[in-house]
Amino acid sequence: MSTDLLRKSILFGGDYNPDQWLDRPDILSQDIKLMKMAGVTVVSVGIFSWSTLEPQEGVFCFDWLDEVIEHLHKEGISIFLSTPTGARPAWMATKYPQVLRVRADGTRNLFGERHNHCYSSPIYREKTAIINKKLAQRYGNHPAVKLWHISNEYGGQCHCELCQQNFREYLKKRYITLEALNKAWWSTFWSHTITSWDQIHSPVLHGENSVHGLSIDWMRFVTHMTTDFMEHEVAAVRAGKSTLPVTTNMMTSAEDSASDPGLDYWKFKNLIDIASWDSYPAWHLPGHLNLPRTIEAEQTLPVDDYRRAVEEGFQHDLFRSLSDGPFLLMESTPSNVNWQQISKIKKPGMIRLTALSAIAHGANSVQYFQWRKTRGSFEKFHGAFIGHDGKTDNRVFKELSELGSLLKQLSKVADSDVKAEAAVVYNWENRWAIETSKDAVNTNKKAYLETVKKHHYALVQQGIQCDIISGEESLKQLCSYRLIVAPMLYMATLATSSNLEKYVESGGILVATYRTGYVDQSDLCYESFPPGPLSQLFGLEVEECDALYHEEPITIVIPFEANRTSRANSYTQVSDYQDVIRDSHKAEVISRFNGGLAHEKPAVLKNTYGKGEAWYLASRLQAQTLQGLYKNIIQEAKIYSVHTDVANKSPSILVKERTGSDGRCFCFFLNFSATTASIRFTDPQREDITLGPWGSMMVEKDYSPSEAKGVVK
Ligand code: GLA
Ligand code: ZN
Repeated sequence: MSTDLLRKSILFGGDYNPDQWLDRPDILSQDIKLMKMAGVTVVSVGIFSWSTLEPQEGVFCFDWLDEVIEHLHKEGISIFLSTPTGARPAWMATKYPQVLRVRADGTRNLFGERHNHCYSSPIYREKTAIINKKLAQRYGNHPAVKLWHISNEYGGQCHCELCQQNFREYLKKRYITLEALNKAWWSTFWSHTITSWDQIHSPVLHGENSVHGLSIDWMRFVTHMTTDFMEHEVAAVRAGKSTLPVTTNMMTSAEDSASDPGLDYWKFKNLIDIASWDSYPAWHLPGHLNLPRTIEAEQTLPVDDYRRAVEEGFQHDLFRSLSDGPFLLMESTPSNVNWQQISKIKKPGMIRLTALSAIAHGANSVQYFQWRKTRGSFEKFHGAFIGHDGKTDNRVFKELSELGSLLKQLSKVADSDVKAEAAVVYNWENRWAIETSKDAVNTNKKAYLETVKKHHYALVQQGIQCDIISGEESLKQLCSYRLIVAPMLYMATLATSSNLEKYVESGGILVATYRTGYVDQSDLCYESFPPGPLSQLFGLEVEECDALYHEEPITIVIPFEANRTSRANSYTQVSDYQDVIRDSHKAEVISRFNGGLAHEKPAVLKNTYGKGEAWYLASRLQAQTLQGLYKNIIQEAKIYSVHTDVANKSPSILVKERTGSDGRCFCFFLNFSATTASIRFTDPQREDITLGPWGSMMVEKDYSPSEAKGVVK
């Protein structure tokens, strides 16, 4: 992405759908006036516009878009131009039903909805190439158009015959021979040996659903088809002679793993020039819902707004890491969404707070869905800059305009980065392997994503800024971190294992947990005790791993004095998994189990390896305990914490930092709560900071904490 646009300002705007108002020129001209009023600097245009751009097959209609783009350009508003492939015109589905998706049960969808297309479909690809190329030829060098917004939230699967054929081709490339495929899928089991490529079918409930190798390869293939389709889209744009950078807006839910689009986003990294994502957390849960989820034994982490903010922060960290620098917050809502069970309006202050939080985590844009509320159809009650009344004298517009002005003052932040000395591994293939496996724990207590987020949370609680990595990075990249946390790395490939070993050898600190090092990249169990190829690094072998009911009274001695508040609670409950470590371990025992199959055996171990340390947690720890553990590791390794100069802070305040190449440091203080909160600094000269309900502040400081200046209140 051209650095001038991205590094010179924090962009502000949202999805703009003028095609819904073409019979209302009054609204269209009003829109631009109001955008100026709000301080909007960028809009995403053309998402889902295919039926307006090509109302009949081969009949193109660009006049309206010409006008919109010229108008925006005249007013100095930049454009992210979307390819319209996220939804298709009815004529296309009627004439070429093969563009529509086939479900797992074999039925082809009817026309309707969006994202309802087959990535293999030659006709869908042909039509995509035509429209994308035309858009690129017409607008791809327009001075107002800055970025290609390729499609919209790619996701989903198609089980049509063409996709089956492509799947087989994909497998042929991967395995070359059926013998290798059968070996990888362990298909002699239940007599599932494949003797001809055309016997292979995608995993479906009424067919094959138990061959884990097949299931994981299918997920890999779905990502492959999607990235292949995206490459096809980008190639068409390039054929239209546009060299503009590209993004595609991604989405993952902060709340639950169920609404994941089922894609390995790491595979998009080389296709995009900048990452962008759509963030819609559910805020303001009431007390009775404000309960721990998923991890049943967890009693300490209610889903209050602070927790939600850290979870959203995990997503920000992920997309910043995918971007290798600043990312775009492509969508969010200024008030409520309209698709959660209860879609709460953001409380006063939240517009600014969540915007500053995104920026604090590395976003160089704050964008919303949507500019103007639609009058009809599915999203007519979704939040927007402008409501049905078209007025600006209301709270939401006022808060948005204030944010627009504030972001202008924050332009200097655009040329700074989040510096992370720690990284948390989140790997989609590992996740699929864990989720498909049938194991001692088959409930949602497996909780891979939740566990990764829990470790991330524990680090954030210590003021540690984290990147999120796949674990498959080069050794050089891994070595840029002082600390790497890789929870539940069940699928530990030989390549990753060897890199992690070298990383620790050369001085890195690695933390891993139960359910590590079980299978190779084909999901075949290693012929050794877990953690398989990582055993030497951790200096231990796991002889057995027991599954725990959540009432089971199994505790460990709290690993560090600092965590103990009294003798009475010097033990802490553990949950879900209990490893039995073999007595031959070389690693130093930091804590032991009390109860269960591994009674008195090691629960937390540390192995000094080369110049570094490898920590192993043999059971799932309570949040508090995990935090205590990290506190100790961080202090010993002298990893930079943004809390360094904080003496005392209310728990609801999230502190984040961005650092410029010139050493300028921007400090963000974010109060995710309904009550006033404050921070006291270690330097007595430095004034306390007090933030009202959902209050937020940015302070520019030099590295010397006492010289706080440039406060944005
Ligand atoms: C997604 C989509 C948008 C819109 C919003 C509503 O992020 O990309 O088109 O539907 O959700 O929240
Ligand atoms: Zn298909």
